[in-house]
Amino acid sequence: METPLTQHIVADRQPLSLKEYERVGGYESVRKVLKQMTPSEVTELVKASNLKGRGGAGFGTGVKWSFVPMDVPGPKYLVANADEMEPGTFKDRLLLEGNPHQLIEGMIVASYAIQANISYVFLRWAYKLAAHEITKAIQEAYDAGYLGENILGTGYTLDMHLHTGVGRYMCGEETALLNALEGKRANPRAKPPFPQVSGLYGRPTIVNNVETLCCLPHIVNKGAEWFKSISNSEDAGTKIYGISGRVKKPGVWELPMGVTVRELLEDYAGGMKDGLKFRGLLPGGASTDFMVEEHLDVKMDYASVAKAGSRMGTGTMIILDDKTCPVGFVLNLQHFFAQESCGFCTPCREGLPWVEKILLAMERGEGKPEHLNILDFHTQFLGPGNTFCALAPGAMEPLQSALKYFRADFERHITEKRCPWKK
Ligand code: NAI
Repeated sequence: METPLTQHIVADRQPLSLKEYERVGGYESVRKVLKQMTPSEVTELVKASNLKGRGGAGFGTGVKWSFVPMDVPGPKYLVANADEMEPGTFKDRLLLEGNPHQLIEGMIVASYAIQANISYVFLRWAYKLAAHEITKAIQEAYDAGYLGENILGTGYTLDMHLHTGVGRYMCGEETALLNALEGKRANPRAKPPFPQVSGLYGRPTIVNNVETLCCLPHIVNKGAEWFKSISNSEDAGTKIYGISGRVKKPGVWELPMGVTVRELLEDYAGGMKDGLKFRGLLPGGASTDFMVEEHLDVKMDYASVAKAGSRMGTGTMIILDDKTCPVGFVLNLQHFFAQESCGFCTPCREGLPWVEKILLAMERGEGKPEHLNILDFHTQFLGPGNTFCALAPGAMEPLQSALKYFRADFERHITEKRCPWKK
């Protein structure tokens, strides 16, 4: 099994220096695209590879690039979305800290494909080590002539800047991120127009996730067919999966796309901790629907997880065990989402704190029978199409599925007037 994205990341050591990275083939894809390929050939290659965005939405990367108008004069931008803040998600951190040159290389490939001359890494504020490593790697890339004017003598120019956020989940939403980058309040923008047409400073802009960008050098070097061949499913490539919760060995692993939930949980995470039973999981961070026992043999790819009624999201699971109260679990998530709402649109600003308040009342034994209907109503009211961005609809996914799979637990809180998990 090949693990191209993480194969040069060695635990407990410094990331590869530029020289070490070049020794294992680093920046070869930059040479190839700049010297042998047209921008549209690069886009077609990525389309053919069936690479889907690893930030959570799974939108086709090459398709997204193809929306950039190439005949419009003036600046275009490429932004690496490194604002990894989805609860339970810590996969990009591995790539950022472990091999920053791989990200820079992928960003050069993407920038060339859309003919951007300025690029940004928008980094989560808390990722201090990553900020240090990326700053160093960007400077090394400039010094070696991979960034700046006339890269490798090809006439192509690309500048790269690191921008750190201020620690708000909202900034990971691509249009809020662009507002933040412009120095404005991080509210989302109405879509359409999509950033591909009108993004940073109103110019065509591509925002891609870190893991997505890190796939690009390997696709350029080894081809679209190779990328498809290393997967176990319809969706191509490898995926960095993760597991957190009360399992024996929480962590992240790069595996062929399409490994099953059971394999991840039992073979990689070592199963549940002694004395605990599996009750459910959120497959890709907090803003996805619960999957339960009947879904353990589902493949972790976009289509299979969708068929099971959830979304793969970031592919980093959060596990719920039988000694943890599902109402308290969901309350914790809703507290996060309510706190992180930017307050721009009414359903999200008003609805999320209301949901949190009801769940808190239930946990305290003050729940009322009508609360269940009110929660059901909110999952509709805050659902897709009613808000500016995916924050509130994402927040409703664990709630609506908890109300489906663990409804009896919610009811017990109301009838027993206490949390049954508390002594
Ligand atoms: P989305 O589905 O609206 O968009 C995904 C990408 O496809 C965007 O770049 C968008 O511009 C493009 N796109 C979608 N429809 C398009 C169309 N008709 N024409 C042109 N381009 C189109 O999803 P969104 O709001 O960007 O992301 C939501 C996801 O982000 C959720 O799945 C969530 O799991 C994930 N997420 C991940 C975080 C992390 O830390 N990695 C943090 C927060 C959310």
